[in-house]
Amino acid sequence: MRRPLLALVLVIVAIGVFAAGLAWLLDSPRPAPGASHPERLWLAFCAACHGADGRGTWRAALFLVRAGDLTDRSRVGQTDQYLFDLIKHGGSPIGRPGMPGFEANLSDEDIRALVGYLRELARRVTPPARS
Ligand code: HEC
Repeated sequence: MRRPLLALVLVIVAIGVFAAGLAWLLDSPRPAPGASHPERLWLAFCAACHGADGRGTWRAALFLVRAGDLTDRSRVGQTDQYLFDLIKHGGSPIGRPGMPGFEANLSDEDIRALVGYLRELARRVTPPARS
């Protein structure tokens, strides 16, 4: 007699666990107290796909988003103007549709701050090239 009720409770619990897992998977990392403005922007808008350290995340890879390693200078060695346009308009105009544009979310000033932050990320990880 009680079986259907038990089954219902189990299904509700299972859905709860699944939803919590999904929320955990998709949650973006929280900025540390005292984090700089560009760092906050990075964590809020970019880290979901690119990871807090810019090297990409397996979470994004699960959804087949392959954002690449942004700490690799050969990849992000372009001019500030290139990076600015990429962040503003996304990758589609240059044939890289995976990267969304942020024109609607970020001011030009914020985008410039992020370009600076990208340079900082690359510097943090890659030692300066030997000449
Ligand atoms: C929805 C996932 C997603 C988000 C959010 C995202 N990106 Fe990307 N980004 C990508 C993907 C995918 C690529 C790789 C595109 C390719 O190479 O085809 C990429 C590429 C890049 C590149 C490298 C371009 C190149 O020429 O190699 C930079 C720089 C970049 N993203 C910066 C950012 C910044 C800054 C933000 C936050 C404002 C951001 N991305 C947010 C998915 C994302």
